[in-house]
Amino acid sequence: MREVERIKLLLASAERISKEQDIDKLLILLSDLARDVLEADRCSLFLLDEKRRELWTKVAHGVEEIRVPANSGIVGWVAEKGESLIVNNAYADSRFNPEVDRETGYKTRNIIAIPLFDKKGNILGVFQAVNKRNGDFSQQDLEIFTLLGGYASSAIENSILQAKVKSAYREAIMRLSHAAEYKDPETYNHIVRVGLYTRLMAEGLNFEKEICENVMLATPMHDIGKIGIPDAILLKRGKLNEWEWEVMKKHTIIGFEILKDSSSELLQMAALVALDHHERWDGKGYPSGKKGEEISLWGRMTAIADVFDALLSKRPYKEPWTFERAIDYLIDLKGKAFDPILVDLFLNNISQVEEIREKYKDEN
Ligand code: C2E
Ligand code: SIN
Ligand code: SIN
Ligand code: SIN
Ligand code: SIN
Ligand code: FE
Ligand code: FE
Repeated sequence: MREVERIKLLLASAERISKEQDIDKLLILLSDLARDVLEADRCSLFLLDEKRRELWTKVAHGVEEIRVPANSGIVGWVAEKGESLIVNNAYADSRFNPEVDRETGYKTRNIIAIPLFDKKGNILGVFQAVNKRNGDFSQQDLEIFTLLGGYASSAIENSILQAKVKSAYREAIMRLSHAAEYKDPETYNHIVRVGLYTRLMAEGLNFEKEICENVMLATPMHDIGKIGIPDAILLKRGKLNEWEWEVMKKHTIIGFEILKDSSSELLQMAALVALDHHERWDGKGYPSGKKGEEISLWGRMTAIADVFDALLSKRPYKEPWTFERAIDYLIDLKGKAFDPILVDLFLNNISQVEEIREKYKDEN
């Protein structure tokens, strides 16, 4: 391919690449582009799995995921030395590991491979292209490949950082939701389960992934307003009297007040959840007596998840119910307390609900 054509190809892809938000799709785009520009048969992007000391293919043309020991073969050499490499006769090179060819039935002739580093110079993985269609890989190929590899490295590094921030944020939210109810005998796993049940419902309604994630983080905050309820009421062993009950019901409005002024979409969602999670489909709930779809969808989801999980749990004022009894309760109150469509959705996914309950079960 002439230089001009290569540049045209690079430019033609530049816009798509710079606009791609999804890391997986971006790495596929970069691998496809590298393959085309280098006129190689296939291209693979290996990431380093530190724990297992292995390199695995995040993207691989023509084959399933491959895992190789981090110190073996050409990619292992590149990862270990942190140097790029062109090998124009693979089988004549002692670093080449013919094992993968043997498994896949592929015949590797020549290889170009470059290390991928983060900004601190730690190795992230290896970018590799094999079998140049006409002739050998050149120094010029290496330059272009290095350019694309640099782009891949920053994308990978950003995505790792983002995942870390997200996970710290998620944990902070869960711990704060729990801390607010800490004086309550409720378990940490109760709020995790409520989050996962409601995410299940959001997925069932085909909401996009980010919204489903937000639902999972927002609904655990439903009872954050209990922070404003006196212990004498919250921890009372028996039934609440009329006055105590009026105070208890305020936990919805208190929670809403705590969360409502945030500009964060997630906390806005959480504010609605706090406000609406005890409203009833038939309008007989509290604090407002909203009816049907006047109640926010997130609140309707939380009502089902929370009540179902509360019924199965021990509370100061009640013993846990059996699974069957709790399901019967949902069916009984379908269209009365609960959104009938959401109840069906929840019950249709009951095996996943059971898995969540098993995975996040209470200690005692
Ligand atoms: P919670 O204990 O987490 O219960 C959440 C919701 O699950 C309740 O909302 C109710 O809809 C359902 N639920 C829980 N246990 C039972 C039960 O044994 N039978 C039935 N039919 N439903 C149950 P609700 O009623 O609006 O209560 C909100 C919160 O008020 C409760 O959260 C709990 O913290 C408190 N609460 C309610 N009743 C009493 C009570 O008799 N004594 C005490 N100490 N607290 C109560
Ligand atoms: C509790 O605080 O005991 C339960 C909170 C809830 O599930 O609504
Ligand atoms: C969490 O603990 O944040 C939820 C659990 C999960 O996402 O699996
Ligand atoms: C209770 O939680 O004690 C009764 C409330 C209800 O059944 O809705
Ligand atoms: C709700 O729909 O929010 C609660 C239902 C109930 O009180 O039983
Ligand atoms: Fe509540
Ligand atoms: Fe709850």
